[in-house]
Amino acid sequence: MNKIIEIQSLQETIDLGKKLGRLLRPGMMITLNGDLGAGKTTFTKGIGQALGIERVINSPTFTILKQYQGIYQLSHFDAYRLEGQSDDLGFEEIFDSDDICVIEWPEFIEDILPENRLDITILRQGPQQRQFVFRPNGNIYEDIVGELTNENNRHG
Ligand SMILES: Nc1ncnc2c1ncn2[C@@H]1O[C@H](COP(=O)(O)OP(=O)(O)OP(=O)(O)O)[C@@H](O)[C@H]1O
Ligand SMILES: [Mg+2]
Repeated sequence: MNKIIEIQSLQETIDLGKKLGRLLRPGMMITLNGDLGAGKTTFTKGIGQALGIERVINSPTFTILKQYQGIYQLSHFDAYRLEGQSDDLGFEEIFDSDDICVIEWPEFIEDILPENRLDITILRQGPQQRQFVFRPNGNIYEDIVGELTNENNRHG
């Protein structure tokens, strides 16, 4: 089932990423959908914090993929510049690995994405206001979204 979380500030986006990051297990996949400047990379910084990554996570737009070692390895993709040219890049091997994969602009590599994943859409509603829509595909992701929204309610 889809879940929605309303965000009021940049810090809340990072904190939400941290909460999600604490629930992630090796091999999981997150896609981040939303316009330029929606907050996809900002949210990924929060995930990285939860994974104990100390290097600064910034946009992988020009390199397509950046990898960071934390509790688990994080593979952070930005498919924007691929514009659909996703053949023969070896991404499937990474998707099948134990890396936690976070993908910005997943629509450009839709044809090679596994079905089981957590799709997140970030909608800009004001200078700092964002709406996060969580769409889990698969039982493990349903569980994660359930935990994420419970935790969110408990701590306001
Ligand atoms: N609540 C918020 N959450 C996330 N970003 C916010 C928020 N409020 C303001 N911002 C600003 O919005 C911008 C988000 O940039 P970010 O790089 O995370 O976007 P993005 O979705 O990754 O964009 P791109 O598609 O270009 O990669 C930053 O300048 C950030 O300071
Ligand atoms: Mg980005």
